[in-house]
Amino acid sequence: MKVFDPVAYKNMVRDFQERDEPLGWFDSIYSDAEGDFSAVFWADLEASPYLTQWLKENPLKAEKKSAIAIGCGVGDDAEEMANYGFDVTAFDIAPTAIELCKNRYTQSKVKYLVADLFDYPKTWQGRFDLVYECNTIQVLPGKYRKQAMQAMVSLLAKGGTLLVSCRSRKSGEQEEDIPLPLDKIEIDTFKSMGLKEEHFLAYDDSQEPPVPHFFVAYTKE
Ligand SMILES: C[S@@+](CC[C@H](N)C(=O)[O-])C[C@H]1O[C@@H](n2cnc3c(N)ncnc32)[C@H](O)[C@@H]1O
Repeated sequence: MKVFDPVAYKNMVRDFQERDEPLGWFDSIYSDAEGDFSAVFWADLEASPYLTQWLKENPLKAEKKSAIAIGCGVGDDAEEMANYGFDVTAFDIAPTAIELCKNRYTQSKVKYLVADLFDYPKTWQGRFDLVYECNTIQVLPGKYRKQAMQAMVSLLAKGGTLLVSCRSRKSGEQEEDIPLPLDKIEIDTFKSMGLKEEHFLAYDDSQEPPVPHFFVAYTKE
């Protein structure tokens, strides 16, 4: 198994982005883990506590609701949505991520599949009551970020909720970072796409030094 080298990682990502192949490197992060989901460096191996809190505070009524996890990685957040009663689809562009999920959760109710946010199955459009995005926008460059946001919004059913969890930064700072956190102006793009902001949280995580994040809930009316 390869030891994670942050400098080599950032250089590798930058090379792909400069060649305008922004999606070309994701699978390598999972294949480098050689079958061990716990070796994926960005995986927390537990559901986001902010997602769990939202699920607790917004319990499902009687009917079954559909949810989708975008860029689901090794699956913790997708499983959490299923634990709270959602009928969950979880997808990732990295085939090895999906293979890790299927091997990790052999009894899962989640439908795991390989798909591209920029070219997802047409039947998904406008279909999901809950759309969950965690840390995908920040690993995309330039124009792909807004395109990703548009694709996320397009998955939402009328009356549905989009939850966005991401790293954050102050406007004008960290502009060359990989991953590139979202500033307030960028995350507000969701509002200019017609969504209503229901809940906005800016917080620091528990790392040392702490890493600032946003956790935001939007609805589509
Ligand atoms: C930084 S990782 C976050 C993974 C997971 N959501 C988490 O929080 O641990 C970003 C994920 O998005 C996936 N991804 C990137 N672009 C994608 C696309 N166009 N369609 C689907 N998945 C994509 C990557 O393969 C990767 O698993």
